[in-house]
Amino acid sequence: MIQEIIVTTQNEDGSTHIAPMGIREENGLIMIAPFKPSATLENIQRNKSAVVNCIDDVRIFAGCITGRKDWSLVPTEKITGQRLTAALSHIELELDSFEDDGLRPQCYFKPVFEVTHFAFKGFNRAQSAVLEAAILVSRLSMLSEEKISQELEYLMIAIDKTAGENEKIAWQWLMEKIENYRQHKKESEIA
Ligand SMILES: Cc1cc2nc3c(=O)[nH]c(=O)nc-3n(C[C@H](O)[C@H](O)[C@H](O)COP(=O)(O)O)c2cc1C
Repeated sequence: MIQEIIVTTQNEDGSTHIAPMGIREENGLIMIAPFKPSATLENIQRNKSAVVNCIDDVRIFAGCITGRKDWSLVPTEKITGQRLTAALSHIELELDSFEDDGLRPQCYFKPVFEVTHFAFKGFNRAQSAVLEAAILVSRLSMLSEEKISQELEYLMIAIDKTAGENEKIAWQWLMEKIENYRQHKKESEIA
């Protein structure tokens, strides 16, 4: 099973890098697989640590994918780093082993500290729709216009029926990004 979470890692200048990633649990270890090149991967290789942030504020997924990376952070407990203040729970990780790959290395981590900050309130369809749309936005150049429109039309149903304020904001950021992409594509086709 893959779980979509936010990874926080420390940049060389001491600031915190925030990136949505999918993680997998394997034999008590947590595996993160960043595509190359990636700031997350560089930070993991340099510091041998990372933090998994489990969130339900989907603005953070949509924000990271649309260039909004200024989210509130607090220091971690056992490793040198920071976690999202909005994290429902977080896990602090130390690198256990690294399987290199030309495209997508696999980083296996040992959890060294785990804590819950807020209760999980249940599934929300609009949150899932935002997540799907964020993945779609991160792959726009690989998808046809037909596929993009089809997917958005379907995801929009859950937004219309079940979104709260955060989901509406996140959805709007993603739609703006898609509109900009379409506009640039149209302009480059005319030029
Ligand atoms: C829900 C979601 C899951 C993602 N999972 C991954 C992943 O597992 N690996 C990856 O390299 N990028 C993933 N991405 C895309 C990255 O978050 C994005 O490309 C980011 O910029 C990573 O590069 P960075 O570490 O240089 O910021 C995901 C994006 C979303 C929205």
